[in-house]
Formats: sequence, structure tokens, C-alpha cells
Amino acid sequence: MQLHSLALASLLASSQALDTVQYGAFLATATYSVANQLGFFTENGLNVIYNQVANSSAAFASILNGEYDILTATVDNALNYRFNQNQNVTVIGQLDQGPDLVLASIPSITSVEQLKGKSIIVDSPVSGYAYLLQDVLAANGLSLANNDYYFMTVGGTPQRYSALVNEVLPNGTAVYATILTYPFTVESEALPSGEAPNILARISDVVAPVTSSAFTIRESSLSSTVETAILTRFMASMHAANKFLLNPKNKACSIQALAKQLGVSQAVAIEEYASATNPVSGEISPPLNDFTVNQTGIMNDVNIRNKFGGFKVPSDFNFTAALVPGTGKLIDYSVKAAAIAEYYKHPLNGNCTTPC
Ligand SMILES: *[C@@H]1O[C@H](CO)[C@@H](O)[C@H](O)[C@H]1NC(C)=O
Ligand SMILES: *[C@@H]1O[C@H](CO)[C@@H](O)[C@H](O)[C@H]1NC(C)=O
Ligand SMILES: *[C@@H]1O[C@H](CO)[C@@H](O)[C@H](O)[C@H]1NC(C)=O
Ligand SMILES: *[C@@H]1O[C@H](CO)[C@@H](O)[C@H](O)[C@H]1NC(C)=O
Ligand SMILES: *[C@@H]1O[C@H](CO)[C@@H](O)[C@H](O)[C@H]1NC(C)=O
Ligand SMILES: *[C@@H]1O[C@H](CO)[C@@H](O)[C@H](O)[C@H]1NC(C)=O
Repeated sequence: MQLHSLALASLLASSQALDTVQYGAFLATATYSVANQLGFFTENGLNVIYNQVANSSAAFASILNGEYDILTATVDNALNYRFNQNQNVTVIGQLDQGPDLVLASIPSITSVEQLKGKSIIVDSPVSGYAYLLQDVLAANGLSLANNDYYFMTVGGTPQRYSALVNEVLPNGTAVYATILTYPFTVESEALPSGEAPNILARISDVVAPVTSSAFTIRESSLSSTVETAILTRFMASMHAANKFLLNPKNKACSIQALAKQLGVSQAVAIEEYASATNPVSGEISPPLNDFTVNQTGIMNDVNIRNKFGGFKVPSDFNFTAALVPGTGKLIDYSVKAAAIAEYYKHPLNGNCTTPC
């Protein structure tokens, strides 16, 4: 009798102790969902603990104090922490290019103009998403500086999505609009008409590409060979999952993984798959899809933050030089390079069987 090689692999994996990775995230990205649901972490000997972060301040505190090994957060946070606050956070790769970012409102608000005088709920008024909102609203004639609207701090996208759908915060304050991302944009569109939020604008219609979710660590992890080795395996698993996700041959399996991870119907998962594989704003890092940070995408983040006064750096600060990857810099590709080399030496296949 012959054991199927996948069954054997999972038997081997389960008979060995898995190494734990504390992973902080705002939401279950499609790449994470595929890695988690289709066994790419366990195949690589990892037990990845998903920590739901509440907001960017809590998330960055947890990455800096060692509670998390790795975090996915919009890269603008890292720009803010490193350049404004001199915190040694390091970006080791790009996961996506502004995943389905939209300005969404409650059903009774049908145009950007109607947001005049209203609050817009955000994670933080000094976060990248708040600057993207300022840019989109400015393109529609509303200015934060002129008090045409104001920001209210509520938290990460899951909290904001729930507040938007309920049209109210837990403390009874009315909600009007926010920025949504994958998977909430599609989930919002799937709500019955009358309950579904309105999409007033797509961020990608105003600015594209924007580098968004990025793999973020504390710089000190790179001086530990143990931590570097674990991060390398995590990135190799995510790389394998991202390749799997972006390969149209795996569409059915990917959709099933998204449905399971997100707890959504097959119909919604099909739309989520389209969103995550979108060639402008999906979980891509063109042209190689190897997690390289898109220089145009990250420069767009810098320019938008700069436009609205979000940097406290000297006026002659050279962002181009600051964004050049290297040791001790904001972007350091050493782990990514090792992960991809490891992936090509020992490809990971996941445990999706046909039919899945
Ligand atoms: C695939 O891996 C996942 C995550 O480790 C596990 O939950 C699932 O049972 C595995 N499926 C198969 C068919 O081995
Ligand atoms: C962020 O989340 C932490 C942990 O839940 C909470 O204590 C803190 O008040 C939150 N901060 C903001 C600005 O919402
Ligand atoms: C960041 O790293 C530099 C160089 O190692 C060090 O001088 C600096 O104190 C660190 N900053 C913080 C806030 O730990
Ligand atoms: C309700 O919560 C929001 C967000 O934290 C806050 O800005 C607002 O002041 C609160 N309103 C009341 C009435 O407590
Ligand atoms: C950055 O992304 C854009 C849009 O997806 C793509 O056309 C471009 O080739 C990328 N730039 C680089 C340097 O890879
Ligand atoms: C900024 O840095 C880049 C890359 O190092 C360099 O090519 C450019 O000349 C610098 N710009 C200025 C104004 O110094």
C-alpha cells in the first residue's frame, strides 16, 4: 500500500513540533487565507498564530516590543514610524497594491458632496488611509483643512465596516462614511439593496498604484539568526501561497480557501477572488510578484502624505534615497531573497487535492 505523498507530508508535519509564528494582521488577506487553509504553513513546519490587531498604534507597539514576529499593515504606517518617529521598523516585502480601497458611505449618502460637515471614521487621522481619503475628497472639492469634514478615530477596517453597516458606533454616535478594503468592499456590495453601503469613489481612480499591505518587522529581528530563519520560512510559505493564488489554474481551490477563511458564500468568494487577483490593486507585486515593493506605489504613498503635511522630516529629506533597499534601511530584502531561494530549492505545494 502506498501513502499519498501529501498525506505523508502532513503526517510528517504533524509528527514534528511546529515552530510558532506570532503574526499580526488587520484582516485575513487572500494570500494568508490560501496559506492557512491549504496547508502552506504546516507543510513548512510552522504554526502561524493569527493575531487580530485593533488599530495601527497597537499593532506597531506589538511588533516593536516583540509580541509579534511579523505584521502586515499598510506601508504608510512604516513610513510614519520610521521617518517621523525614528522607530526601527523594517519592510521586508509588498503584499498588495491598495486592495479594493474605496470611499464607502451609508445608503442615504449618495455623493461625496453630501459628506460636507460630516465625520468620516478612520483607524487614525494620521494614517495612510486617512491621507488617501483626504486626496480623494480633495479631488471632489472637500478639504479637511477647510473643515469641510472631520475624522473620527474608530479602529481597523473590521470595526469600521461593522460601524458603517450599523450606521452607528457602539457609543451611539452616527456614522456616515469610511474607507474600506478587501474583503469588506465586496462583502458590502453583496448586502441586500437598501442595506448596502454606497461606493462613492474608488481610490485607484484617483491614484494608482499605491503600495498598501507590507510585511513589516522590527529591525532587530534581522540580527537574530533564529528569528531570521523563522521569518524566511514564513515568507517562503506566503510566497508559495501568493503564487498559488495568482495562478488561474488554481482558481477553484483558491475560491474555496477564501470562502472557508472568510465564512462567506461561494458567490461572494468568487468576487473576493476577483478582487484579490485584480491586476491593478490586488495582492500583486509586479512585474515578478515576488513581494518587491513597487517604487511608484510607495512614492505615491510618500507624495500623498507629504501633500497633506504628514511628514515631520527636514525639508531637504531625500525620500528617494530613504526608499533605496538595504541593510538598516526602511526596506530590506534579505529575508525575502532567502525565502524565494528556499522556495525554489524546496517548492511548497499546499494540500489542495482535485477536486478540492
Ligand atoms: C490542509 O492544511 C490545513 C492547514 O494545515 C488543514 O487544516 C487541512 O486539514 C489540510 N487538508 C488536508 C486535505 O490535508
Ligand atoms: C488601539 O487598540 C488598543 C488595544 O485594543 C486600545 O487600548 C487603544 O485605545 C486603541 N487606540 C486607539 C487610538 O483607538
Ligand atoms: C534605531 O537603530 C539605530 C541604529 O542601530 C539606533 O541608533 C537607534 O537608537 C534605534 N532607535 C530606536 C528608537 O530604538
Ligand atoms: C463615541 O466614540 C467616538 C470614537 O471613539 C468619539 O469620537 C465620540 O466622541 C464618542 N461620542 C460620545 C458621545 O461619547
Ligand atoms: C509598479 O506597478 C505598476 C502598476 O501595477 C506596474 O505597471 C509597474 O511595472 C510596476 N513598477 C515596477 C518598477 O515594477
Ligand atoms: C536623492 O537620492 C537619490 C538616490 O540616492 C539621488 O540620486 C539624488 O540625487 C538625491 N537627490 C538630491 C536632491 O540630493
